[in-house]
Amino acid sequence: MAEQREDARVPTVIADGLHIVYRVNGARKGKGSATAALSRIVRRGEERGVREVHAVRGVSFTAYKGEAIGLIGSNGSGKSTLLRAIAGLLPAERGRVYTNGQPSLLGVNAALMNDLTGERNVILGGLAMGMSREQIRERYQEIVDFSGINEKGDFISLPMRTYSSGMAARLRFSIAAAKDHDVLMIDEALATGDKKFQRRSEARIRELRQQAGTVFLVSHNNKSIRDTCDRVLWLEHGELRMDGPTEEVLKEYEKFTAK
Ligand SMILES: Nc1ncnc2c1ncn2[C@@H]1O[C@H](COP(=O)(O)OP(=O)(O)OP(=O)(O)O)[C@@H](O)[C@H]1O
Ligand SMILES: [Mg+2]
Repeated sequence: MAEQREDARVPTVIADGLHIVYRVNGARKGKGSATAALSRIVRRGEERGVREVHAVRGVSFTAYKGEAIGLIGSNGSGKSTLLRAIAGLLPAERGRVYTNGQPSLLGVNAALMNDLTGERNVILGGLAMGMSREQIRERYQEIVDFSGINEKGDFISLPMRTYSSGMAARLRFSIAAAKDHDVLMIDEALATGDKKFQRRSEARIRELRQQAGTVFLVSHNNKSIRDTCDRVLWLEHGELRMDGPTEEVLKEYEKFTAK
């Protein structure tokens, strides 16, 4: 990136003062103290209403083509929420997200059907990403091989519910990685794979980057972030604490988490 002129960089995602608020219907209002809990039990189910969770608070950044950006921060800091907002799955309360191209979110919960075979899910997942039947046919073997699902027998023709959680995550990653994405967002997907698969998927992320897309990777594994990302966004309590080169941000984050 360094050799490119500043004005030659193509923005793919712009978040501008983004706020995301979840509204939970039917949640009980009130504080978490013991007396409050007791009085709620005594009064049984009164004070039901809508509770708001302010998950992302005024986040701004610009992502460029060719970047791989790590998203780090404590549990509940807003990483998954931010990705869902970029994918257009959550409305902004305030501020805006602009995207250039179609962002695809690959989460551990990406919607595949547990009762269908791995084979059917590859087709389903491909169609869901907008690939044609022809493109899926061409890439089918590559997807299955990459996932390694068949290394231990003919699992691809069995329903996904017979897979271990790691195997299912590998298949999801393989399906998503078969397409060249404008913006690919990966939420923890690598964490469940074994070492060998992690290395393979990291290599694939680097490839996707070279095909000039932008990759976002959420991970609690700092090594995965170091190996794949050149830039890191650090979220804490929904706020962007730091945005910079991987080493700089991780150094501060590691100090923070060591406390
Ligand atoms: N569907 C939801 N409804 C209401 N609140 C939610 C929902 N999803 C997440 N939250 C809340 O939003 C905040 C941010 O959650 P989020 O899942 O984005 O965190 P995260 O950084 O991805 O955490 P983790 O590292 O544990 O995956 C948390 O306070 C969480 O409780
Ligand atoms: Mg998360």
